[in-house]
Amino acid sequence: MESVVLFTLLLLFFLSVFFLFRGKKYSDKIPPGSLGLPIIGQSLSLIKAMKADKVKEWFQEGLTKHGPIWKTSLFGYPTVVLHGATANKFFYTCDASLLYNTPPPSMSRVVGSKSILELPKDDHKRVRTALVSFLRLEVLKQYVAKVDEEIQYHLQTHWAGKHEVQVQTLIKTLTFNVICSLIFGIERGPKREKMLPHFQDMIEGMLSIPINLPFTPFNRGITARKKLVPMLIDLIREKREAFEERKRADPHKDLITSLLNIRDDDNLPMVSDEEIIDNIISVMIAGYDTTSILITFLVKLLATDGSIYSAVVQEQEEVAKDKAPGEALTWEDLMKMKYTWRVASEMLRINPPVAVSFRRTVQDIEYGGYIIPKGWQVTQCASMTHMDNNIFQNSTMFNPTRFEKNASSPPPYSFVPFGAGPRMCPGIELAKMETLAMMHRLVTQFTWVLLNKDERFKRIPLPEFDKGLLVRIMPIKATSMPSEAMM
Ligand code: HEM
Repeated sequence: MESVVLFTLLLLFFLSVFFLFRGKKYSDKIPPGSLGLPIIGQSLSLIKAMKADKVKEWFQEGLTKHGPIWKTSLFGYPTVVLHGATANKFFYTCDASLLYNTPPPSMSRVVGSKSILELPKDDHKRVRTALVSFLRLEVLKQYVAKVDEEIQYHLQTHWAGKHEVQVQTLIKTLTFNVICSLIFGIERGPKREKMLPHFQDMIEGMLSIPINLPFTPFNRGITARKKLVPMLIDLIREKREAFEERKRADPHKDLITSLLNIRDDDNLPMVSDEEIIDNIISVMIAGYDTTSILITFLVKLLATDGSIYSAVVQEQEEVAKDKAPGEALTWEDLMKMKYTWRVASEMLRINPPVAVSFRRTVQDIEYGGYIIPKGWQVTQCASMTHMDNNIFQNSTMFNPTRFEKNASSPPPYSFVPFGAGPRMCPGIELAKMETLAMMHRLVTQFTWVLLNKDERFKRIPLPEFDKGLLVRIMPIKATSMPSEAMM
């Protein structure tokens, strides 16, 4: 075991030395800044800033000291930090033959090498096209009632009759269940319950220090993957058999069925089973914590800002008044929730769930008069443009009117909570659907107060409330639940 640690440390050391010498080749053209200590660089100070929710301040310090392009060293790699909307455009739209996506090594081991998060250019395009063909609006619109039914069941099971709840913890379960049912076609029951802890271990493991020793989070993540993969193989087999038995069945029944049925001109499958497995895991990981933290932040906001709360309630009551109790929401209902989505957008500006993104250079790149050597990391922080007063006036003020139809839209690439370009989040519409439907059901069925007004969150790397955001809840009225047949 010790030899594994020693090997990892030596590898990181040699990488640092290698990159140091590569950087020296262009020493006069390398961006200003310091690579800091070998191996560690400034990783610990960034992690500390993330835990204190001071990521923006961390990036701002570098910007003030060195200007909009500067170097440091993060997570074992020399790194160039870029600031501003133009830099965001370069970061998100640069051709994959120059800049490629680089999940940390721990993520590759846990999520799998065929994940959309790390497939090379053409393979990425093929798998992404397959994912988007299911996640696109025209397909998702059919599933509003299904998402709403999961939400109503969730509220009835986990919120109704309770006095206190941990909002973030519960909403994670909800977003996990929505993805299971809608995307994977795994309906409520023991199979789904068996999978949840494995996904949770994998999420923890993929963002941990990649030391594979018993009891490390990384080891738990790898073990969870080993247990989950056979379950996913069975699931794919079941879906394939079900589709072949019912030839006319809907190919968009769920994401797995959809992926199995994407064929080339010779009717051969375009996505392998291995790719389906790694991408089931990727979609769950990308879609579950992100949407749940957005909804959690909104729950917190509505408990602390009376005027926003009243405006959201008014909009949601307008929607509710045309519906029978418990009647499923429709796409048209969600389209009426414009104010609620503006509040969510403003929340995504102030508190983007994904604060920092990374890429790696495939070759030496010239940018802004500097050289970024081959193999270096490039990073950007969404909050730097989101909180720039020149782009968003009074940027620290929570003001949903910024997103009104008549307000001037922010300049391109300055509002990037879902990224941009060829890797832009394909789950936006699903995230919007879940958020709006959940806010509707919550504000029409419950009121709540924060139990700990000062409860803070850490970014590890996604925001995580210290106690899961504890609230006291009160029912507004007896809620009508969907009929037994729907459950
Ligand atoms: C509020 C919710 C969400 C936020 C803020 C969010 C944000 C993001 C961001 C910032 C990226 C990466 C951009 C980059 O590095 O260039 C991303 C990628 C991705 N997201 Fe989301 N996401 C959310 C919800 C979802 C959902 C619900 C799903 C799926 C069900 C999803 C699936 C994905 C996938 C598969 C990728 C990788 C895309 C690629 O590499 O081509 N996300 N998301």
